[in-house]
Amino acid sequence: MISDAELLERADAVASRAYAPYSRFFVGCALLTRDGVVIEGVNVENAAYPLGVCAERTAFSRAIADGYRPGDFAVAAVTASPCGGCRQWLFEMGVDRVVFRNAGEVRTMTPAELLPDSFEL
Ligand code: THU
Repeated sequence: MISDAELLERADAVASRAYAPYSRFFVGCALLTRDGVVIEGVNVENAAYPLGVCAERTAFSRAIADGYRPGDFAVAAVTASPCGGCRQWLFEMGVDRVVFRNAGEVRTMTPAELLPDSFEL
């Protein structure tokens, strides 16, 4: 099984495929499913700025379209600290842990640590 460090390297590599002409901030995300598959995503921006999508959400959307469901994910590796909205997604998708880089440091946290008292239906 791929290590957390290797998964973050996959996120680093895919970040170069981000479509981020407005912010020029390239983000990559690599998800490790419980059956050992890596699914990647990048941020995809739009001229109508709020319509842009974060790397985490494109990775999860791709995974869901492939048939994966909340609870099927072990690890999410992200090249940046997840934004507030993506923390809600990480929580809903039920990943065990999130590995991300923030201010040059690699951090590992659970979704609950990233988003205490999260909203749930
Ligand atoms: N971004 C992500 O892709 N993920 C995050 O969790 C933080 C922010 C993207 C969105 C936007 O395209 C760019 O980074 C600058 O905010």
